[in-house]
Amino acid sequence: MVLFITLLSSVAIWVTWAFYRLYLHPLKAVPGPWLAALSTYYEMYYDLAKGGRLPWKLIELHKHYGPIVRIGPNEVHINDPDFVVRFFSSSNANRRDKHAPHQQQLGVPNATISTITSDLHQKRRAALAPFLSSPRVVSYQPTILGKIENIASRLDRCKTSGEVTELRQLFWYMATDIITEIAFPIGTNLLQNKELDSGYYNFQKTGQSKLLWFKHFPFLWTILKGMPPAWLLKMEPQAAVALRWERDNKALAHDILSGRYEGEKHTVIHHLLSSPLPPDEKGFDRIWEESTSLVGAGGETVANTLCTVIFHVLQNEDILHRLTEELRIAIPDPFQIPPTHTLASLPYLSAVVQEGLRKALGVVSRFIRTDPNQTITYGSYMLPPGTAISVSALLCNNDPNLFPVPQDYIPERWLDAEKYGSLNEKKRQVITLGGGPRRCLGEHLAYTEIYLVLAVLFRRFRLELYQTNERDIEPMYDSLLPLQWEGSQGLRVTIR
Ligand code: HEM
Repeated sequence: MVLFITLLSSVAIWVTWAFYRLYLHPLKAVPGPWLAALSTYYEMYYDLAKGGRLPWKLIELHKHYGPIVRIGPNEVHINDPDFVVRFFSSSNANRRDKHAPHQQQLGVPNATISTITSDLHQKRRAALAPFLSSPRVVSYQPTILGKIENIASRLDRCKTSGEVTELRQLFWYMATDIITEIAFPIGTNLLQNKELDSGYYNFQKTGQSKLLWFKHFPFLWTILKGMPPAWLLKMEPQAAVALRWERDNKALAHDILSGRYEGEKHTVIHHLLSSPLPPDEKGFDRIWEESTSLVGAGGETVANTLCTVIFHVLQNEDILHRLTEELRIAIPDPFQIPPTHTLASLPYLSAVVQEGLRKALGVVSRFIRTDPNQTITYGSYMLPPGTAISVSALLCNNDPNLFPVPQDYIPERWLDAEKYGSLNEKKRQVITLGGGPRRCLGEHLAYTEIYLVLAVLFRRFRLELYQTNERDIEPMYDSLLPLQWEGSQGLRVTIR
């Protein structure tokens, strides 16, 4: 009897909720699938059961329902270039908070990138930003070039041996070595061994592919973080390098916090400790989360953009020819690579990078913002305070009105405004690096790495694709970052 009553009341509560969400909720008039209006299980289904296909489902939904679609009980997704600027803009009067239910997804809930409220975000970002500012990144250039030279000497060896090289892992290792070398007492030094150990790469890739699970079940982080390292190692031996790196740096980070550190490096930990942040923002856990968020943010993102650019350039002889000619003239001595600002002034190289960023997407998951205080209007729809509003790079970057034949890689889009339309408008619409006050903080570092790698690779080597086609590079699944199809073996090239 008790069971029957419990069951009956659960059903009654559920039906009432369903009725409210479908017929009384402030978003009831926004078009969209009724299942999505009922429950966030709709999102979970595409994230988990469909392995990360929600962004592609959103394309279908917009085709069917128009520019605004209700994709959750309290969320609308908007596909409209004119709205993107409003979406990202934030001010005191006009707050854009992040979506609280996803705060734990990255496992660093107290880092700038995961901070929910816009005022706390502003303070944290202001403290971190100088460490990644443009002049600071110029000072990191020798470190960056050192890692790129390591890649170049590997390619030299492959040129002699005729061996096939896979570039995605190399770039991931390079970007991780760079950010850890710059920001931590001890760098990862993943490129230091002649034979690359793929353990770290496989471990990180597995972790990345589970990010949507962490979004829906944040307690998984609690379990993972609470697990003794020896258990984790038993379950996943490939975690060894990452765990060792973490253990050694954590010990030194404790030394830095307690003033016992004897090294000379000025790490991001020193930087944050000497920032004007209040003491409660300078505890060990927060500082550690902020610092390690950079490792997560600055590895695969850079590798993926480089792979996208290099694949498309190699696939198209005209583009390759135009690029190598420009580099040959601008860099007379291939072993004297000019600084990034000189490279960034080369029109074709810049166009190749811009188009690569457009195609690479950066983050495939939608960006979600809420305004806690104000109603946002979109057309005739009133979106009350607290409504989750989202936009996606997959849609913005591929808007056919701004980017005709969006699936094609056409650097000329960024050169010929008369033929391809206003550059500023296009730039605003490519949201690979996000936008507004939460736009990527590592963009100077990312651009520097990307420009320098492309200059070295295309000035010194003749690369050819090896059994790699578009499917191996194109985003196919959402794991926050783009994931390629299961059979992708990365970006494989031979060197002549
Ligand atoms: C091509 C490479 C990169 C891409 C495509 C990229 C993309 C992005 C995007 C889309 C965001 C905004 C996330 C959001 O609004 O939820 C972001 C934020 C961020 N990125 Fe990057 N990123 C790249 C490289 C880097 C690098 C190299 C670093 C530093 C090591 C970095 C550090 C950050 C940080 C700290 C944030 C948080 C900014 C904030 O919340 O204020 N990123 N990135």
